Amino acid sequence: MSNRQKHPTSLNFKPQVVQNTLALPCVAQSAWRLDDESGLSWLQAQWQAKQPMRIVGGASNLILPPILPGQTVLMALKGITVIEETTQNVLVRVAAGESWHEWVQQSLNAGWFGLENLALIPGTVGASPIQNIGAYGVEVGQRIECVTVWDFSCGQIKVLSADDCQFAYRDSLFKKPEGQALLILSVSFRLLKQASWRPVLDYPDLKPLAQSALTNDLVVSPQSVFDQVVAVRRRKLPDPALTPNVGSFFKNPLLSAEHFDRLRQQYPGLVAYPQADGRAKLAAGWMIEQCGWKGRRVGAVGVHERQALVLVNLGQAQVRDLLALAHAISEDVLGKFGVALEIEPICWA
Ligand code: EPU
Repeated sequence: MSNRQKHPTSLNFKPQVVQNTLALPCVAQSAWRLDDESGLSWLQAQWQAKQPMRIVGGASNLILPPILPGQTVLMALKGITVIEETTQNVLVRVAAGESWHEWVQQSLNAGWFGLENLALIPGTVGASPIQNIGAYGVEVGQRIECVTVWDFSCGQIKVLSADDCQFAYRDSLFKKPEGQALLILSVSFRLLKQASWRPVLDYPDLKPLAQSALTNDLVVSPQSVFDQVVAVRRRKLPDPALTPNVGSFFKNPLLSAEHFDRLRQQYPGLVAYPQADGRAKLAAGWMIEQCGWKGRRVGAVGVHERQALVLVNLGQAQVRDLLALAHAISEDVLGKFGVALEIEPICWA
């Protein structure tokens, strides 16, 4: 343990640029890398002194303001630990600062399956439960056994079960007011061994994989699901390193069955997915495209040409440009379909 971590108050807290996948200009007034849990007691004192505090992981699902006041904690805790292992499954604790995609690759290489549908999602492991990342038929909450947090309200480490985390579509306890005193330290995943693993191939983009396996009398492997998800994402979604973005900018709205039926009579082409609770999840990207926004540019921001749910920074965009574009899109969707869109990333601007 370094001297720096033992005595965080001796650090010279300097303003620091916060790199983010939207490439928005953002400077943290005082940033600090948390790479050791020994810094938590110092953070606790900051919290009690009512210093504004923000935790930043990969900054891949954040809309940042030009200045972040108070303390900004750059999450850098590392480590992957097997907690228990049987012939059927394994429980693995992964520190919050690990890269999500690298962890997915490592889990596959180790023969632990269940995360392959969630390949190539940018960001950190610690951010994954916050918005309950989901793609191609799997949500991370289905694979999480528990989340270990530092609870600033009592200055203690706590272990939250998956139920405690209140996972829902792009939502969890960590996005709610009562979750704001929690700093995620690690996430524990229950993953399957080959013998008990079954592929999840219901999502339309993965059906060809199931079909080709059937035709050629092949068994679908976790690696082939991973490869297919990576290929689909590369085809549809812009690489944030080349075209800055935060993935889907809006949630897919959930409508009651009767609201959906009424809307579908008006718009027979409406794309939607039935939910277990009877509601319908509308494809917001389809509605945005119908409003003529797909591929449109407004100054330094635009709507991606292959996926209308993704807004992109085309150059020197400011956060206000992006929010103005989001507002214009939402107004059009509301005007045409009578459906309100909700911004999906966390907005601190
Ligand atoms: N669609 C259009 N036009 C578009 C975009 C989509 O018509 O411009 C239609 C598609 O043809 C398809 C349907 O909408 O029929 C759904 O599109 P897609 O499969 O691309 O998925 P999505 O609903 O737009 C969601 C997630 C993505 C996730 C994919 C795959 C949300 C907010 N987004 O997008 O997550 O990768 O499903 O599961 O739920 C993210 O959260 O950042 C993200 C990329």
